[in-house]
Amino acid sequence: MVDIHAHILPFVDDGSSSLEVSLELIREAMDCGVKNQFLTPHFMKTRNFLSVAEENQKVFQSFKDTIKQRGWNINLYLGNEIYYSIDVLESLRKKHILPLGNSNKVLIEFSLSEMLEDMPEAVHNISSLGYVPVIAHVERYSYLNRLDDIKILRRMGAMIQVNASSIVGLNGKTQQAKAMKMIKLNDVDFVASDVHASRINHMKQAYAIILKKFGRDMAEKIFNNQSVL
Ligand SMILES: [Fe+2]
Repeated sequence: MVDIHAHILPFVDDGSSSLEVSLELIREAMDCGVKNQFLTPHFMKTRNFLSVAEENQKVFQSFKDTIKQRGWNINLYLGNEIYYSIDVLESLRKKHILPLGNSNKVLIEFSLSEMLEDMPEAVHNISSLGYVPVIAHVERYSYLNRLDDIKILRRMGAMIQVNASSIVGLNGKTQQAKAMKMIKLNDVDFVASDVHASRINHMKQAYAIILKKFGRDMAEKIFNNQSVL
């Protein structure tokens, strides 16, 4: 499995405040069957998560060394989950914030409760820098309910990520139904854990649900999308 969205890197956001917790989160990911794990610390001015690439890369390198010393069979990649606003474009251009690993894909998120930004405009702006925007947990935006709008974002070049926790129903029936409908319509590119220390990793359980409902091709397509590697 490929997990493109997780708050596992220690000390840099609200994900994990100790090395031990981060190691435990990696072990849980491995138990779920994740072979390629992206570590995507928040970059979010409104919550004061402002750790930039240079700092994150240092922590990442030493975390990767620790995993290697233990001989754990998992590939780690660094990225960011970027809370979109117009000024992140400058930070992206200056490489203060990062795309997903070595890919040209950028994980972006928006306010969950109110439309503060125009999503098509965000997709256009990120694309104009030569990146492919991946919209994080699309099922969670309460104001984005028309599935046609999600199709339009994809046609504009965005990729779509949904959370494993929504597939298992942890975020309520509405978000679960929305995620399932999007999968059925072939409008999901990635399922990811969005795991924090305080949240259980639902990748394995979500994979089993999708396998049963839509078959192995669909499950592999959205849980093992290799286009970011
Ligand atoms: Fe996240």
